[in-house]
Amino acid sequence: MALPNINPTTTESWKRLQEHYKTVKDVHMKDFFAQDNERANKLTIKWDDFYVDFSKNRITEETFKYLLELADEVKLKEAIKSQFSGDIINQTEGRAVLHSALRAPKISECHVDGVNVIPEVYQVKQKIERFTNEVVNGDRKGFTGKIFTDIVNIGIGGSDLGPAMVVDSLQYYKNHLTTHFVSNVDGDHVNEVIKKLDPETTLFVVVSKTFTTQETLSNANTLKAWFLKSASEDAIGKHFVAVSTNIQSVKSFGIDENNIFPMWDWVGGRFSLWSAVGLTISLAVGYNNFESLLNGANKMDEHFKTEDFKTNIPVVLALISIWYNNFFKAESEAVIPYSQYLNQFATYLQQGIMESNGKSVDRNGNPIDYETGTLIWGEPGTNSQHAFFQLIHQGTKLIPADFIGFTKSLHGNQDHQDKLISNFLAQTEALLNGKTEKEVIAEGTRSDIIPFKVFKGNKPTNTIFINKLTPESLGKLIAMYEHKIFVQGIIWNIYSYDQFGVELGKQLASKILQEFNNSDNSDHDSSTSNLLNYYKSLA
Ligand code: F6P
Repeated sequence: MALPNINPTTTESWKRLQEHYKTVKDVHMKDFFAQDNERANKLTIKWDDFYVDFSKNRITEETFKYLLELADEVKLKEAIKSQFSGDIINQTEGRAVLHSALRAPKISECHVDGVNVIPEVYQVKQKIERFTNEVVNGDRKGFTGKIFTDIVNIGIGGSDLGPAMVVDSLQYYKNHLTTHFVSNVDGDHVNEVIKKLDPETTLFVVVSKTFTTQETLSNANTLKAWFLKSASEDAIGKHFVAVSTNIQSVKSFGIDENNIFPMWDWVGGRFSLWSAVGLTISLAVGYNNFESLLNGANKMDEHFKTEDFKTNIPVVLALISIWYNNFFKAESEAVIPYSQYLNQFATYLQQGIMESNGKSVDRNGNPIDYETGTLIWGEPGTNSQHAFFQLIHQGTKLIPADFIGFTKSLHGNQDHQDKLISNFLAQTEALLNGKTEKEVIAEGTRSDIIPFKVFKGNKPTNTIFINKLTPESLGKLIAMYEHKIFVQGIIWNIYSYDQFGVELGKQLASKILQEFNNSDNSDHDSSTSNLLNYYKSLA
């Protein structure tokens, strides 16, 4: 079944939200709290080890009601069913969207073109498990008989960001293997990594769904050439493995067929860490932890599929985000994890959210006249408090923010944890309440600087409080955002699973690359032409 094609702005609920917005836009959230002692309880979802408080938002019960009606009017329920049933919902590329099948239980069924894909998924999982155990236990050795000490993940975009973020986030659970990530075509990146490697003890994991990506192939070739300075061609079989759908090209690169971990075109790159693209994760934290990550995501899938929209975490977060993006016209959203482990989380989400929903043509092929994808950014607290929080508190822009925290710390230093969480709680409180002129005066502030010390507050936040950072809870958290992306794409009536926008730059780059050796490069605008000539004259 194809996705419904409903322009959200033509729905009754959208029109109601537009009218309703006028009555809410100038109200301070403090008043909402003052009017209803039960507000926080009413607008909190407790699910498993997640406590999601969305009461510090500029919404009323009426807003929430209309947003839920919007979800119904755009037929979100039917769309969720289509996605999980393996329908071709990525219509522009003619593909199903089934990253959820990668974390589904063995007994489940999921059909693509009439074939249940779960058995294949489990075959590859078994291969990941076997390979991981061999490397981690030291049964699989390098060409001189030494055990592996270092893993290099070579990939970019979804073939890099997911594994890199998860390995970094789960470093507490890491084994003895040192992991490196090479992504940028900037040769300085790969050369800095090479400095840390020993060819005898390094395993290379080349990850590219298409196996055509310039950056990945260039880095893989550079690393292969470096490796072959110390080893013979035969040794490649021991040291290079690949994850790809393009088996033929992997073989042409010189990687043994037994060392290829397949994936499928129904897994989008930015949603692929659950597939063999996560091989480096499995190697870094062990297969059992990798499986826990997948189990966590599966739990969130079940929640998303079955929970009433009113208490459905990804749906609620998506609706709130639509409220700010399309009615308040907020341009960006911040994601602030109060965990240093989640240092790369916002960067990872940027691809997921912005590559998916950065679209301006609707599912009918018509230009869109409403806002779609939000800008995503963020850094861990408390560091970010000392960097960009000033702008969130007192700047002119409205920046809704997700605050993600963990009630328990992993190393168990309670003093640090209490300080961390007191900041976590204090910031959303400050963003909600601000500080009035009266309060500033009461502090004995010098009269001429009173205006500068007033905080308006009324800045919206969601608090996502999780028990502990584990592979399972991280899996839930990532899947939560994946589903939020889906819901927003459905409401905006766009195709979230293609990324044609990144192609033009790639095409022009290969044209320019050829022209570095040509004398004629007149086929450009004068700015590009001048820059090209400038580079040629100096490089
Ligand atoms: O830049 C676009 C993109 O296609 C991403 O969507 C993808 O994650 C990345 O390139 C890498 O692609 P591949 O895994 O095919 O090398």
